[in-house]
Amino acid sequence: MILLTGGAGYIGLHTAAVLIGAGHEVVLFDNFSNSKPLGVERLEAIAGRPVPCVQGDVRSRQDMDGLFDQHSISAVVHFAGLKAVGESAEQPLRYYDNNVTGTLVLLEAMIRAEVRRIVFSSSACVYGDPDFSPVPESAALRPANTYGRTKLMVEEILRDLHIAAPDWSIALLRYFNPVGAHPSGLIGEDPNGIPNNLMPFVTQVAVGRRPELRVFGGDYPTPDGTGVRDYIHVMDLAEGHRAALDWTLCDPREVLAANLGTGCGYSVLDLVKAFERASGQAIPHRIVARRAGDVAANWADPSFAGQRLGWTAQRTLDDMCRDAWNWQRQNPRGFA
Ligand code: NAD
Ligand code: WQD
Repeated sequence: MILLTGGAGYIGLHTAAVLIGAGHEVVLFDNFSNSKPLGVERLEAIAGRPVPCVQGDVRSRQDMDGLFDQHSISAVVHFAGLKAVGESAEQPLRYYDNNVTGTLVLLEAMIRAEVRRIVFSSSACVYGDPDFSPVPESAALRPANTYGRTKLMVEEILRDLHIAAPDWSIALLRYFNPVGAHPSGLIGEDPNGIPNNLMPFVTQVAVGRRPELRVFGGDYPTPDGTGVRDYIHVMDLAEGHRAALDWTLCDPREVLAANLGTGCGYSVLDLVKAFERASGQAIPHRIVARRAGDVAANWADPSFAGQRLGWTAQRTLDDMCRDAWNWQRQNPRGFA
């Protein structure tokens, strides 16, 4: 059985759908601080069977020990954490507690249960403002915000753990910009409040929940002046987790850090145009000042994941927009 901490969240649900489709048994574990039980019901509709889900907190030793006692877990995919960059600056201790302390409590429970395989949700923000793109895994690690520092700290904790316990198999997956939804439209991204990220903002404009998109900055040194990112379809990302999990299940007994991205950079306006094509909806938008902390451009060199995990992203920006729209159109208020 594979444990997915934070399994009721956006990436967790999609990964669970892919793992179940590949024949894995999964158990989800979530405190529902940023997700809803309805998401798990939708996953069950996709899977065509019940999916065990335990409510609890990764920071609770009691919750974690109970979970490992009740289920025979062979590997962990660790999604649970907080992910809003702006909020991490305002509430740093909450972010260190959830993301770093939460991981320490999980790892201690894994040691007690003798589970030594983990796939960790890291982030491209461990690179901060990279010197160049495409960004390889060997690029300097200098996160530019608290959230990114929590991710780098956990990477370092896992590397130190591996030095002390070389029989562990550890995959650190650095995601670029996950977007899109399951092709069924049953599950997708459902942020609380005003979306920070581009794609959910665009889809909420498309269904009339927001009047217009503000494009943060039109004077970057990029082809059209707007920020360039590596958007990756969440189903490709989920398949990347499957590849990494299967790698840990072969007991390679090493730490591997891999970028999960497409290797393509698209601007904000590229994404808006692609979304308009995919949805047939006009997206009113206006260029405003740059957002503090944003970088001009970053996209992945994903070749290492291809070599070591046999995984490459398959889906296009048009696929991402089509599936994001399909989800939002069918669920204009998300899981509410
Ligand atoms: P999400 O918020 O949808 O999912 C995270 C889940 O973890 C939520 O269901 C939340 O309720 C749960 N959770 C949070 N703290 C918990 C705790 N202490 N105990 C138990 N459950 C807890 O976010 P997501 O987009 O699915 O991201 C999953 C992981 O991937 C996160 O660690 C995030 O930092 C990382 N990541 C996300 C992105 C992105 O853009 N979405 C990019 C890079 C990395
Ligand atoms: C993308 C582009 C914005 C909203 C963040 C985290 C990163 C990772 C993914 C977790 C930028 C522009 C956005 C809007 C806009 N998450 N934009 N109007 O900032 O690349 O990455 O999410 O690990 O760590 O930092 O993603 O979707 O916020 O922005 O113009 O209303 O869209 O300026 O160029 P970002 P994003």
